[in-house]
Amino acid sequence: MKKKQLVIFFFLAVLLILPISNMIGLSGENEPIAVVPGSSEKFAKVSPVLQNKCVDCHSPGMTRMPIYAKLPIAKQLMAKDIENASGRLILTKQLYSGETSFTPLMLARIEGTVRNNSMPPHLYLSMHWTGRLTAEEQQNILDWIADERAKSSLSSDAIKSLKGEPIQTLPLKVSLDERKVALGHKLFFEKLLSGDETMSCASCHDLTKGGTDQAKVATGIRGQQGPINSPSVYNASYNLAQFWDGRAKDLQEQAAGPVANPGEMGEEWDNVVKKLSQVNEYKNSFDALYAGKGLTKTTVTDAIAYFEKSLVTGNSRFDQYLRGNNETLTTNEKAGYELFKLNCASCHFGPTLGGGSYEKMGEKHNYFNLRGGELTEADNGRFNVTKDEKDRHFFKVPSLRNVELTFPYFHDGSTANLADAIKMMAKVQRNKDLTKDEITQIEDFLKSLTGEYKGKLVTKLNDKDVQ
Ligand code: HEC
Ligand code: HEC
Ligand code: HEC
Repeated sequence: MKKKQLVIFFFLAVLLILPISNMIGLSGENEPIAVVPGSSEKFAKVSPVLQNKCVDCHSPGMTRMPIYAKLPIAKQLMAKDIENASGRLILTKQLYSGETSFTPLMLARIEGTVRNNSMPPHLYLSMHWTGRLTAEEQQNILDWIADERAKSSLSSDAIKSLKGEPIQTLPLKVSLDERKVALGHKLFFEKLLSGDETMSCASCHDLTKGGTDQAKVATGIRGQQGPINSPSVYNASYNLAQFWDGRAKDLQEQAAGPVANPGEMGEEWDNVVKKLSQVNEYKNSFDALYAGKGLTKTTVTDAIAYFEKSLVTGNSRFDQYLRGNNETLTTNEKAGYELFKLNCASCHFGPTLGGGSYEKMGEKHNYFNLRGGELTEADNGRFNVTKDEKDRHFFKVPSLRNVELTFPYFHDGSTANLADAIKMMAKVQRNKDLTKDEITQIEDFLKSLTGEYKGKLVTKLNDKDVQ
């Protein structure tokens, strides 16, 4: 009986206090920020909405304080909100005014919250009745986001109505110095790069297996089991950085790693340079292509990086759809794409549906508890690079191109089956339990992303095609 009375009392108190706090309003109102000349009409409609309904948590220093903000609990709650909110999206004066543009990552995240109607958070709305985005405001934000994306060169290949999608096409052709690509190609398959001359890059990044080894974790020379799953080399040039934890800034820096790693190829670079220099063909090619530099660790990794930049798998059925072929996707695949936009595209966006940010594995639900087993050093993810507690269990979002071939999934290779990976993602990243049908639809959509290399579907490639 006592508990019930307390609850009733609480509700009465809230009913009484709320209208008063809403009437008195917020102190420290910000001067409206005008959008700069040249901003689009669409943005001019959106900016005041963001300034009014998002500013209190997403613009540290510009927060308007309600009267109850001085109460101890409210104060702590608000500080926590501002901290968590700014970890995900910071709206500066320059963004509100249109002086700086929103990045693709910001657009993807905002789109996700608008589609899910998840911002502002419910607790805030219970105290700010006018804080909710109206249907019109939501539509205006989505229209503006689509418009921003359409301006990007990434969207140039899509038909007009699909230029604003969170996913863009991969190019059908990349123009690169073909001689460097060919040299890098040879090196990618070169076993002289390893200590016992048994392994090449291709041993763990098999181009007929989606650019991976399709093993839980990689196996280095002398059968050594590595700590982590091999990601794909296809389309890796689109990643904001390389490795699951982003410790290499680009492909060239990355390529130096596995050679010298005792658990992988286990060879010293000085030896690699010596061994390769004894092969006339290599020596001559490097002298010709890298005038004045010749064959060094830097030029070897540069050539390998060139080859990797050529590993772009365009012309998937989904790309054909973006280019205007409406027949190429089934109804199921299109339904899967809609579900994907709702639940997944705030992290898996851009031409490779990933590679654009570091995200927590287990954003809404503890993944490692569900997985079980001991935590490993690799499970720390981005924390290993930054040593910042906020980055523990953060990983670079993997690309989902050719995902039907890149099993087993996740950094720990814990999940063999794509449907299980989708189910797990919805649970731990969005705290959603997808139905069997929804999982199948998303899976069907993801399979439409399988693209071509050298004019052939990557699922159909054999050793001769890739060597
Ligand atoms: C009362 C504070 C508050 C307000 C107001 C608020 N947010 Fe948030 N927002 C948060 C918090 C806390 C998080 C981080 C936790 C989470 O994602 O729920 C967040 C996260 C986000 C994210 C990141 C989502 C992701 O994918 O990680 C976006 C985007 C966002 N908010 C947009 C908005 C927009 C747009 C508005 C205005 C319409 C808004 N927020 C208003 C508190 C707020
Ligand atoms: C023994 C197996 C093995 C060999 C050999 C190997 N790799 Fe890897 N590769 C891996 C693993 C495992 C990772 C992930 C490591 C991590 O993130 O900590 C990786 C990551 C990468 C990445 C980053 C992809 C991404 O999405 O972050 C690229 C690119 C890559 N390797 C290219 C190469 C090249 C080039 C070579 C040859 C010089 C090579 N690899 C040799 C196993 C291997
Ligand atoms: C909050 C960001 C976020 C959201 C939302 C998200 N993902 Fe992920 N996704 C990640 C990260 C980070 C990883 C890598 C995690 C790891 O390996 O530990 C990942 C990995 C994956 C993988 C494994 C890929 C591979 O090669 O190992 C698949 C498949 C996947 N996600 C699909 C989805 C689907 C489908 C959804 C929507 C239901 C979704 N993701 C939602 C961030 C996200």
